[in-house]
Amino acid sequence: MTKTYLDLSQLGMRFPTPKGEFVALKGVNLQVKKGEFISLIGHSGCGKSTVLNLVAGLLMPTDGGVIVDGKEVDGPGPERAVVFQNHSLLPWLTVYQNVELAVKQVNKGKSKAEIREQVEHYLNLIQMQHAASKKPDEISGGMKQRVGIARALALQPKVLLMDEPFGALDALTRAHLQDALMQIQAELNNTVIMITHDVDEAVLLSDRIVMMSNGPAATIGQILPIELARPRNRVDLADDANYQHCRQEVLRFLYEKHSHGQVKSNQSNNGAAVMLAKQA
Ligand SMILES: Nc1ncnc2c1ncn2[C@@H]1O[C@H](COP(=O)(O)OP(=O)(O)O)[C@@H](O)[C@H]1O
Ligand SMILES: [Mg+2]
Repeated sequence: MTKTYLDLSQLGMRFPTPKGEFVALKGVNLQVKKGEFISLIGHSGCGKSTVLNLVAGLLMPTDGGVIVDGKEVDGPGPERAVVFQNHSLLPWLTVYQNVELAVKQVNKGKSKAEIREQVEHYLNLIQMQHAASKKPDEISGGMKQRVGIARALALQPKVLLMDEPFGALDALTRAHLQDALMQIQAELNNTVIMITHDVDEAVLLSDRIVMMSNGPAATIGQILPIELARPRNRVDLADDANYQHCRQEVLRFLYEKHSHGQVKSNQSNNGAAVMLAKQA
């Protein structure tokens, strides 16, 4: 038995608002093992980004807490890297320099040659060596997202937190990055929590899919283990009965048990705005 790496216990978040307290999350309990890949899925505004924020330490919970590798989260830390949907690369630095910044952060005191070797390793991993000297505005959205992922991986995080990392990408780029992520995660054994709206993406990538109920006072409604052998191949899985079954379970949860109802217009992006504001 591997021990729990990431422990969310009785996690709750109440936001102060002009109309009084808003209970976004209540009683969220989740234990994640080292190397596990977890997807968080749920309707817009249910609190997925808030959960990720709390694990990242960008938000402090009003109830309960998060423990990473035996230590309570009390702020952001290098053992937890976050990948945002809108790839926050530094525009005045090249691809190489963006990755180098992260490498230097965890390799203080190493020689120039060692730093270079590391940067090249991560560029290789995302197949971006050819564009190392380009600036972010000279490369495509998918490439930027890849660099964002490389930069996060270069921090050698115990925990990789991703908020809809592929949400804004076209289907082909998305598939390519999903495959790259599966390979990288198999190699590095990071513990991953990824928010997604894409049911196929969740089933393909995850060891477990955590499905959240709608807010207010959102919580975990169901956890679905995905027992599909790895490495996984999207083409083979397309007519795999177990894959289809998992897919249906998630769809059933989302559209039968917890159908959406009405959404308040400001709901979906608040959490992301908070994260970006705090990161800037
Ligand atoms: N800073 C905040 N102040 C008040 N309400 C917030 C704040 N951040 C998020 N919320 C609310 O908490 C709920 C969950 O938001 P969020 O975690 O962004 O949802 P999701 O990522 O699932 O779309 C939403 O109703 C949202 O409006
Ligand atoms: Mg969100």
